[in-house]
Amino acid sequence: MAFATIDELEAGLEGAQYLPERGLSTALYLSLSLQKPLLLEGEAGVGKTEAAKALATATSSRLIRLQCYEGLDVAHAVYEWNYSRQLLHIRAAQEGTVSEEELFGPGFLIRRPLLEAIESTEPVVLLIDEIDRADDEFEAFLLEMLSDFQITIPEIGTVTARGHPAVILTSNRTRELHDALKRRCLFHWIGHPTLEREIEIVALRVPGIPDRLAAQAAAFVQGLRQLDLAKPPGVAETIDWAQALAALGREDLDARTVEETLGSVLKYHEDFAAVRDEALVALVEEARTVAAGAA
Ligand SMILES: Nc1ncnc2c1ncn2[C@@H]1O[C@H](COP(=O)(O)OP(=O)(O)OP(=O)(O)O)[C@@H](O)[C@H]1O
Ligand SMILES: [Mg+2]
Repeated sequence: MAFATIDELEAGLEGAQYLPERGLSTALYLSLSLQKPLLLEGEAGVGKTEAAKALATATSSRLIRLQCYEGLDVAHAVYEWNYSRQLLHIRAAQEGTVSEEELFGPGFLIRRPLLEAIESTEPVVLLIDEIDRADDEFEAFLLEMLSDFQITIPEIGTVTARGHPAVILTSNRTRELHDALKRRCLFHWIGHPTLEREIEIVALRVPGIPDRLAAQAAAFVQGLRQLDLAKPPGVAETIDWAQALAALGREDLDARTVEETLGSVLKYHEDFAAVRDEALVALVEEARTVAAGAA
């Protein structure tokens, strides 16, 4: 395994511009050392996908990503036969005969992410992103793969993983996953970061942003999360917004600037209505006070 301690792993993730909470780095560390898949759940934009990307960078592994969606099937996740290539081969052989073994051999296989991860000889982080979007049937298929790390292709046989890929699954919890899948995984819920952590993330991701502005932007977003919004902003929104504020050359947060740039933070019309006028002025005041205390 690449890291002797959790601190070492954290340093590696920081090197990949990712600042995890201790609970997350512990879960990632255990996932690597116990060779168990890790299921990350959390609201949108809290850094689930990015955690897997940063882990790949920190472990010098190749990231193989399977983006899940409704209707995702084995042909798009694991492998598919290359029919056009098989046809060409048959035509080229003309009068000669082509054996079935020849046609259904490794050369005619289109490798999709899961097969690629299993066959890989280099270190791999396999990201199965947004598993909650895939159908039950696919989840059941994954179950088998995740416990044995092997895939059976009827015409060829069973392919067993050579190394042991690190596996990260993410879910936005649009539906509950099956217990059987959860049982095979370690689990970690990524919540919104603390104010101090979020300020550090903004400073890291928006180079050159004035310290005070970074603190005010983070504090403002933390204030927004206390409201009853349709979609509370994630870290992704804080970073986008801080970038916008820095690009506008702002040094300080004021109500007018917030009003003009709020589209980077809130993505629902109803949420705009909830954060207008007096509410907005109060939030800005609070953010400035909180930021002054945090700096
Ligand atoms: N702890 C963190 N350290 C550094 N950057 C972070 C952190 N958390 C989130 N980010 C930033 O926020 C952005 C959004 O994160 P990411 O795309 O991983 O969210 P997600 O949880 O996968 O969201 P979704 O559910 O919408 O897919 C990333 O590009 C990353 O830059
Ligand atoms: Mg994601």
